[in-house]
Amino acid sequence: MSTSTATQPVSPLSHGSADVVGATAAVVAAHAEAITATFYGRMLTEHPELLRLFNQGNQATGEQSRALAASVVAYAVQLIDPSAPSFAHVLERIAHKHVSLGILPAQYPIVGRHLLAAVKEVLGDAVTAEIAAAWDEVYWLFATSLIAEEARLYQQAGIDPTRPLRPYRVVRRIVEAREVVSLLLEPADGQPLPDVAPGQYVSVFVDLPDGGRQPRQYTVSSTALGTRLQITVSRLRGANGAPDGVVSTYLTEQAQVGDVLDVSAPAGDFVVNSVEGPLLLASAGAGITTVLPIVELIARTQPARRVIVAHADRTAGDHALRETVLHAGRQLDDFTSYTWYETVDPSDEQSVRGYMDLSDIPLDDGIQVFTCGPLPFMRLVRSTLLARGVPATSIHYEVFGPDLWSVQSDA
Ligand SMILES: Cc1cc2nc3c(=O)[nH]c(=O)nc-3n(C[C@H](O)[C@H](O)[C@H](O)COP(=O)(O)OP(=O)(O)OC[C@H]3O[C@@H](n4cnc5c(N)ncnc54)[C@H](O)[C@@H]3O)c2cc1C
Ligand code: HEM
Repeated sequence: MSTSTATQPVSPLSHGSADVVGATAAVVAAHAEAITATFYGRMLTEHPELLRLFNQGNQATGEQSRALAASVVAYAVQLIDPSAPSFAHVLERIAHKHVSLGILPAQYPIVGRHLLAAVKEVLGDAVTAEIAAAWDEVYWLFATSLIAEEARLYQQAGIDPTRPLRPYRVVRRIVEAREVVSLLLEPADGQPLPDVAPGQYVSVFVDLPDGGRQPRQYTVSSTALGTRLQITVSRLRGANGAPDGVVSTYLTEQAQVGDVLDVSAPAGDFVVNSVEGPLLLASAGAGITTVLPIVELIARTQPARRVIVAHADRTAGDHALRETVLHAGRQLDDFTSYTWYETVDPSDEQSVRGYMDLSDIPLDDGIQVFTCGPLPFMRLVRSTLLARGVPATSIHYEVFGPDLWSVQSDA
């Protein structure tokens, strides 16, 4: 007899598997990062062609392993616990990322096989046939949801998933700030630009001088250019002996006018809706790339909508797109801009010295917040705004890397 009621959603897992997953979730969670690290090692050894698809920086730092582990554990938990937080936004983010990389349904069995093998390798004899079958079911439920959402996104954007990239020619380089360069890209196939929702990104695939090929995501940093797509790249310097960023260094130092890059269709769900109501755009460093297209959009479509931009950077010399954002903001009826720099030039009377502090700025009821920058920065923005009564559901964020928002605690 079923014990479920109308208010308790039934788990899509088969009955036996739900019990097994419930009994083993804690041990899998405790070893999840070891499992996903083992998984990548196995899969990329057997399928070296995938090295050109997976971000090797995220492999070296372990961030992708951690993001995959966190997503699988969170997915399993919400299958067995109806009170677990909604998983929809995690699924959506992964599907958008996959679509920007041209992931195909036929690749899911490869990932599934190596992930299950990694579970067995890490947990050893503890993994009975019954446990393996239950986690295989979790994997395929997750995979099926992703495949379905990715099919929907490919179709919505009119993308043939077997040919997800288009060639774009670099037609201009603009030095925006110290170590920040915008590249203006024009389709080299003669076709029009795709639709871009402000806040979305593209995956750019770069053929590196060492013969390797690597994708990275870059926000479309302006949508006001008609026939051109703009990305704005901040050169990443390695800290504490770590190497400099491979693709950002290539794009800022070596990519020249006339070069052709393979670029995906726009993807991502960090998108402002058109419901009237005030907006706060809180950014730090390279996160400014999400601010300009959103301010441009509001200037084009809702110039009476109130917009506050708040930006933090190391110095004014590092602050990219500042003038362009202010220029777009001047087209709005109600626009306020705040800046914080770790080091302020004595002649700069507009900016505040130090880290961003949103505890005193005037905030309207119903404000929607879009924040983008390093994770510690976004956590501070969020905790300050939650303390000021802004609902969590009104705070949207974009992570410029694998989403580890819920993995690293605030502690
Ligand atoms: C949705 C999204 C939007 C984005 N938008 C923008 C944007 O608009 N502008 C922008 O500038 N960036 C953006 N990014 C970030 C961008 O995609 C890249 O992550 C960034 O440019 C760095 O790539 P890279 O190849 O230069 O660095 P990588 O080579 O990938 O290095 C990344 C980090 O890993 C470290 N690392 C690499 N190898 C090792 C190793 N062996 N040991 C230890 N550490 C190592 C490096 O030191 C560095 O800190 C976005 C990212 C996402 C996900
Ligand atoms: C159920 C199966 C899968 C799950 C749960 C999953 C999960 C994830 C997650 C959590 C991310 C990081 C998203 C982010 O925060 O940006 C990601 C990225 C990615 N996934 Fe998947 N994925 C699955 C299947 C696949 C398959 C079949 C492929 C194809 C080989 C694939 C290739 C990639 C690549 C290339 C990235 C980007 C990695 C990076 O930037 O470091 N994934 N996936």
